[in-house]
Amino acid sequence: MKNILVIGATGQIGSELTMELRKRYGNSNVVAGYIHNAEPKGELKESGPCEIVDVMNAEHLALVVKKYAIDTIYNLAALLSVVAESKPTLAWKIGVDGLWNVLEVARENQCAVFTPSSIGSFGPNTPKVKTPQDTIQRPKTIYGISKVTTELLSDYYHLKYGVDTRSVRFPGIISNITLPGGGTTDYAVDIYYAAVKGETFICPIDQGTLMDMMYMPDALNAAIKLMEADPTKLIHRNAFNIAAMSFDPEIIYHSIRRRIPDFKMIYDINPLKQKIAESWPDSLDDSCARAEWGWKPEYDLERMTDDMLEKLSCRLKK
Ligand code: SER
Repeated sequence: MKNILVIGATGQIGSELTMELRKRYGNSNVVAGYIHNAEPKGELKESGPCEIVDVMNAEHLALVVKKYAIDTIYNLAALLSVVAESKPTLAWKIGVDGLWNVLEVARENQCAVFTPSSIGSFGPNTPKVKTPQDTIQRPKTIYGISKVTTELLSDYYHLKYGVDTRSVRFPGIISNITLPGGGTTDYAVDIYYAAVKGETFICPIDQGTLMDMMYMPDALNAAIKLMEADPTKLIHRNAFNIAAMSFDPEIIYHSIRRRIPDFKMIYDINPLKQKIAESWPDSLDDSCARAEWGWKPEYDLERMTDDMLEKLSCRLKK
């Protein structure tokens, strides 16, 4: 990876991934691609090149790739699961038609491509506990359907044209910088904000609903480590199960309460989010990622809770 383009650089993952890549590969070598209503600000804007990149505009995407001699594309453009249900056509256009444009430009310019998949690529008839790497993927959401399609298309471009496509199935990502917005797992971010602000948390997901989650530093490491991995060791490509922790609302609530004893949580279940959450695995088996490219997370729930509360307390008190 020498010249990198991050598409969706102002989103939840993109905003932190761009900065991490700039730290590792040099500020001028990482282009932050953003869309019209999501301009970069602050350090993200000032620390390196920024370009408007809409995955639905193939011609302009190709111009940016050529202008910076891009060799690696992180394609993070997507709508999250809940918002995608209200805009299925747009979710498909961004997730699938957009990926097609990215893969074509990658084929023509010899770029490697990372397009994240998700726990949402599984469905209600997938084995729920320790979900295997290779198993049934019949999701019921447009988010999941588009993620399965991105996995298949990415593998197709690798097999047919030799494009170096690689991906992981991200669990719910928890971070303290950019909010996710429109996902089923967002509650696991929102609960920390409520705790630090001294508010009662209204939980939209029912107790007992387990989902895989991951702290942002591990998610960033996964995306970078996989793209740096020795290709001869990769049996799989699109996409690897990765896992760090699995919890339900009670488990994360008690993790916070051990540090903030008067923190309160009540339930007000959101039927759409609950239905989606119940169709996703409780936990993933990530042994292929561990064996093929050395995946290993650093944060468990307790370490993440310490860090989230510390960082958010500093920021929200300023
Ligand atoms: N965080 C995503 C969502 O909730 C799942 O990958 O939509």
